[in-house]
Amino acid sequence: MTDQTNASWGGRFSEPTDAFVARYTASVSFDQRMYRQDIQGSIAHAKMLCKVGVLSETERDDIIRGLEEVRIEIERGDFNWSVELEDVHMNIEAALTQKIGITGKKLHTGRSRNDQVATDIRLYLRDEIDVIASELTRLQQGLIDLAEQEADTIMPGFTHLQTAQPVTFGHHLLAWNEMLQRDYSRLMDCRKRINILPLGAAALAGTTYPIDRHYTAELLGFERPTENSLDSVSDRDFAIEFTSVAALIMMHMSRFSEELVLWASAQFQFIDLPDRFCTGSSIMPQKKNPDVPELVRGKTGRVYGHMISLLTLMKSQPLAYNKDNQEDKEPLFDTVDTLRDSLRAFADMAPHLQAKKDCMYEAAKRGFSTATDLADYVVRKGIPFRDAHEIVGKAVAYGIESGKDLSDMTLQELQQFSEQISDDVFEVLTLEGSVAARDHIGGTAPNQVRAAAGRAKALLAER
Ligand code: ARG
Repeated sequence: MTDQTNASWGGRFSEPTDAFVARYTASVSFDQRMYRQDIQGSIAHAKMLCKVGVLSETERDDIIRGLEEVRIEIERGDFNWSVELEDVHMNIEAALTQKIGITGKKLHTGRSRNDQVATDIRLYLRDEIDVIASELTRLQQGLIDLAEQEADTIMPGFTHLQTAQPVTFGHHLLAWNEMLQRDYSRLMDCRKRINILPLGAAALAGTTYPIDRHYTAELLGFERPTENSLDSVSDRDFAIEFTSVAALIMMHMSRFSEELVLWASAQFQFIDLPDRFCTGSSIMPQKKNPDVPELVRGKTGRVYGHMISLLTLMKSQPLAYNKDNQEDKEPLFDTVDTLRDSLRAFADMAPHLQAKKDCMYEAAKRGFSTATDLADYVVRKGIPFRDAHEIVGKAVAYGIESGKDLSDMTLQELQQFSEQISDDVFEVLTLEGSVAARDHIGGTAPNQVRAAAGRAKALLAER
């Protein structure tokens, strides 16, 4: 243990921090990932201190130059992170002081690590949200383009994973897009509450220096300073909110994954995934495993876990800052990495999903998916819906027994169940007729799918 250990507060102490305690309480191994934001925040703070007359222009310029040098060293991999200096904030400040001398020690005037770390996390998360949002947009773009191409492709739609009614593959793809569209708007909403400046709250009560928080907010691109210093250093709602948005996105991608895994199987054969997103088996030569969707589905759990970790972290904390808060970072960072990488993989993969149109079509025919269309047809001939349901139920039972789809039956066969059935029935019994008939906003008719894709594209263009 070196006597550097508690240099920042050593005055009050009569013995150095225990070496194990220093390691136990340090966060530098993980919070160093916020070095860019820490430096960005410090530069803004130095400019503000100069504007209000606390630092001279020379001092400000020395600090900015020194901090830029530190950033370059970190980026080159030349920076020596020290556990004795506990966290990213004190490591950078110490390096600055080593470079520019006594002026470096003035940077911390009017602030505390409590408002500094709160600022860094907000800056970090704001940056990451922008990357995540662009991956989300890329994924949506891929889905919408594919939906346009597949607007006429017919597949079975399911409820209870039983064949229900025919839909178009384009319509199914746009259902995924809707989920992601809501996710995007939640992410942007969460970003608004992140984009507020806590710096200036200092340790908890504010500071006696004549700081200009509006100016610092403006320099850092924050919408405004926070209202209450106690809340500023203790609030981690924004991180919890982000993990909950992330949990929802992962949940959506997990459902999406589950469908891809099923559809790529020999039993469904609805899609082909590009080889580059799959792996083989070391023992079974025929295997092509959908690893990417499986992993996305698997990784969803850890993001849920991180959300619960953060909620639990905060639930018993009295105001204001507590060291507990240091535990916010690892769950948050892992949430960011997992979400960003999962979205990236899906955005890369989605445009290359290959529909096996013939298999989809055959599957839609196999499951009596136009039974509802027949019932609606009989209703249009004047029979009450409940009776029509019964009539079609019998026709389906006959179809199962004789191995025929409704559209494969002759008119005479169909007329056994209702005399109201005539020649025009075959228009509604085809899969094409069935999807085309659902011709209203939100319906699966190919022209509606094309229109919906157009509207979805227009929404992306507004971003
Ligand atoms: N590493 C700390 C954190 O992540 C920084 C703030 C520490 N403040 C303090 N007074 N100990 O929360």
